[in-house]
Amino acid sequence: MKLAELIKERRSIQLYEDRPVDLEQLKGMLDTAVWVPNHKMTEPWRFVIVHGESLKKVAELNRKFSATGSSDEDRKRSGEKAYQKIKDVPVLLMVIMDENPDAKLREEDYAATSCLIQNFSLLAWEQGIGMIWKTGALTTQANFRELIGVKRGEKVVGMVQIGYPAKVPKARNRTDVQKRIEELN
Ligand SMILES: Cc1cc2nc3c(=O)[nH]c(=O)nc-3n(C[C@H](O)[C@H](O)[C@H](O)COP(=O)(O)O)c2cc1C
Repeated sequence: MKLAELIKERRSIQLYEDRPVDLEQLKGMLDTAVWVPNHKMTEPWRFVIVHGESLKKVAELNRKFSATGSSDEDRKRSGEKAYQKIKDVPVLLMVIMDENPDAKLREEDYAATSCLIQNFSLLAWEQGIGMIWKTGALTTQANFRELIGVKRGEKVVGMVQIGYPAKVPKARNRTDVQKRIEELN
């Protein structure tokens, strides 16, 4: 696929086939994905691949965290929905970044790590693998951080859900960028 097509056709995927993803293939894609621009070459990232029983534990945490509502029944329903949303995801990739104490460097590190995630999702899409980048409130919770092994001074930039797409959603429209381009001469 041409790069322009790949960029436009990639979609965030919520529903996955019940089909395992080769973890070595994912690790190999990260070898390429790290070739991002990175001011001062800080390489602030590390990764935790979560699957199997550990993934079920993340789903359980999501159940507890999301069980909100005014009645027991409401809490049970919202918790169960949150649990189901994660338990059928084949693999989670936690993208973890060192939070530089310097605000400018921290922002630049976040930018570089974001480029890495986009590289990774394009590489995956090229190979028929889908994903969605999640930044839900769960990823900042103490019990979640403990389960994943996120240390003080680290940020979870993304909980990337990965798998072969069972459903590819329709693209959401993008505003015509030409209207947002100015030229100064
Ligand atoms: C930094 C970032 C955080 C995101 N967090 C979430 C999220 O928490 N939940 C979610 O459903 N989608 C999340 N998304 C995915 C967007 O919703 C998605 O990219 C957008 O709807 C456009 O769809 P597309 O990626 O298929 O083009 C996130 C995307 C980015 C870049």
